[in-house]
Amino acid sequence: MSAAQTGCRFLVTGGAGFIGSHLCESLIESGGHITVVDDLSTGRRSNLDAARMFGTNQLELIESTVSGALPSLAARRFDGIYHLAAAVGVRLVLDDPARAVETNIFETAAILSFAARTRTPLLFASSSEVYGKGVRAPFKEDDDLVFGAPTVSRWSYGLSKAIDEQLALAHAQRDGLPVVIARFFNTVGPRQRGRYGMVLPRFVAAAVTGAPLQVHGSGRQVRCFCDVRDVAAALPRLLDHAACHGRVFNVGGDRPVTVEDLAALVIRVTGSTSVIEHVPYAEVFGSAFEDLAIRVPDISRIRAEIGFEARISLERTIADLVTEHARTPEATA
Ligand SMILES: NC(=O)c1ccc[n+]([C@@H]2O[C@H](COP(=O)([O-])OP(=O)(O)OC[C@H]3O[C@@H](n4cnc5c(N)ncnc54)[C@H](O)[C@@H]3O)[C@@H](O)[C@H]2O)c1
Repeated sequence: MSAAQTGCRFLVTGGAGFIGSHLCESLIESGGHITVVDDLSTGRRSNLDAARMFGTNQLELIESTVSGALPSLAARRFDGIYHLAAAVGVRLVLDDPARAVETNIFETAAILSFAARTRTPLLFASSSEVYGKGVRAPFKEDDDLVFGAPTVSRWSYGLSKAIDEQLALAHAQRDGLPVVIARFFNTVGPRQRGRYGMVLPRFVAAAVTGAPLQVHGSGRQVRCFCDVRDVAAALPRLLDHAACHGRVFNVGGDRPVTVEDLAALVIRVTGSTSVIEHVPYAEVFGSAFEDLAIRVPDISRIRAEIGFEARISLERTIADLVTEHARTPEATA
């Protein structure tokens, strides 16, 4: 089934969120009809305004948790499901790890059962956090997953996503469910919010208001950022391609950058007079916080299967965030 086929019906959980709303745009542009299920816990109705503009009658929003909405969808048939609903963001996870684990595991179990019952192909939004504190660079999809002690709340998010992956692959094996697991690395771009700990919207908001850019820790952490529009465009291609079913894919950029260099780049692109300020992790996240020195993806698998390339430069993403901030400062807050 091709996402480009006019009239296809897709269920997007978490579709009012940052990545989900861009995915909806991409699917609607290709002629699809979308049902979004989102409880608006971190997502926003307004994130879907652009998607609505592409196709006024092609988008329906059900404001609900995933498990709450599924009974009302029991008789409906979809051509594909994109499961993005999750508790996301370091801040959110540390503030309420129990909620993060419950949301990520129970809601995923519910949608996987629905997909298996209705035999609907499903793409699961996983995370580079499943690599935990692994030290390989770059991370390959078949690497071991290495987590810290369960007393360190930070790992609850990655652990819950790793369980979800296992569950999705178990459904693939037992029920023949076509599933694709997409492990997103640092995804950035318009509509991302800074309040849950995401670095780029925080930096841009600080730079344009002349406030210090707060770099947590040494700033020498290495990351690869990828624009959300590149990520969103890749997801239907992954789900459409039968050779991708039952497999895991890293989805990310291939330009490593330190967080300190990212801050300097934001200052340069915005022409800001802001300074960079280092803040110890302990001050921001508490004394037991652990972070990774290097987290970069090996993207050779996704490149080989669907020809994925990150086309939008970090400079352009930053410039677009500046424009967004000028138009609606609350969008990135
Ligand atoms: N942004 C990144 O860099 C990144 C990196 C790795 C993985 N991911 C994954 O990508 C997906 C989307 O993340 P995002 O960055 O767009 O975050 P987001 O917070 O903007 O999106 C998550 C959406 O899910 C919704 N939601 C949360 N709990 C729900 C529930 N129980 N029922 C229904 N809706 C619910 C939220 O309201 C929100 O709209 C998530 O699964 C996340 O784990 C994101």
